[in-house]
Amino acid sequence: MDITVHDDRAIGASVHGFDHTTATAEEIDAVLSAVYDHKIAVLKDQELSPRQFLELGGRFGRPETYYEPMYQHPEVPEVFVSSNVPENGKQIGVPKTGKFWHADYQFMPDPFGITLIYPQVVPEKNRGTYFIDMGKAYERLPGDLKKEVSGTFCEHSVRKYFKIRPSDVYRPLSEVITEVDTKTPPVLKPTTFVHPMTGETVLYLSEGFTLRIADEHGEPLETDLLHRVFEATGQLDDTFAHPNIHLQTFERGDLLVWDNRSLIHRARHTTTPEPTVSFRVTVHDAHKLYDEPAA
Ligand SMILES: [Fe+2]
Repeated sequence: MDITVHDDRAIGASVHGFDHTTATAEEIDAVLSAVYDHKIAVLKDQELSPRQFLELGGRFGRPETYYEPMYQHPEVPEVFVSSNVPENGKQIGVPKTGKFWHADYQFMPDPFGITLIYPQVVPEKNRGTYFIDMGKAYERLPGDLKKEVSGTFCEHSVRKYFKIRPSDVYRPLSEVITEVDTKTPPVLKPTTFVHPMTGETVLYLSEGFTLRIADEHGEPLETDLLHRVFEATGQLDDTFAHPNIHLQTFERGDLLVWDNRSLIHRARHTTTPEPTVSFRVTVHDAHKLYDEPAA
């Protein structure tokens, strides 16, 4: 196994010769270190069935199955499917997922540390995913903004981007909203936390899932602070030219492993969609999202 750091870019490392069935514990640790240090590790030349992809994910942590069944692979529910290509005339998974800035499971009480994406059908033209390293973005925040977010909390919810399911057709919208709020009530988390693996301070918020900024009691702050932080971090730049934004491209056989604490990401879809299929496995590593400060 050989790990090459992408020195020319701020983010990423490539891993050649990785085989999850024979990888030693040291090799798994080395890949994980590359993920924490360089945020994305690209495992090259992977040829895996959905079941084998799940087994690979299991080497990096405890898999978390996505809570909404319509995203699950029909044979391996732990595999989340993003697809606009019907199989035998049947929709598998969900098309056009994640076309907004977010960290995976940011709206849940216990988000996982690692996301693995394994593209299956790779588009010809607009391939790739946009990323922002929110540790670096925090470092680059102007001092007065850093001061303003200090000690605040953010409320995250799936509400803004929850996708209507086939079973919701003919249901009153109010009933669906009540169900969403009951099943996934908004969660309150510190606006910044210390990354338990790297010690960096990470800004934990996104335009897709963060609804409000609040004080330590959860009382919303009457301010446009959230908007200013979205702007400063690059999340409102629809040209994707902001220096914080990194476009990660991939080719067939690439399997991306990334740091879901540090990175927010956004799928790249165009108005004329090309066939795209991607499998995802998400895993909890050795720590919670962040360590609770000692009481
Ligand atoms: Fe995502």
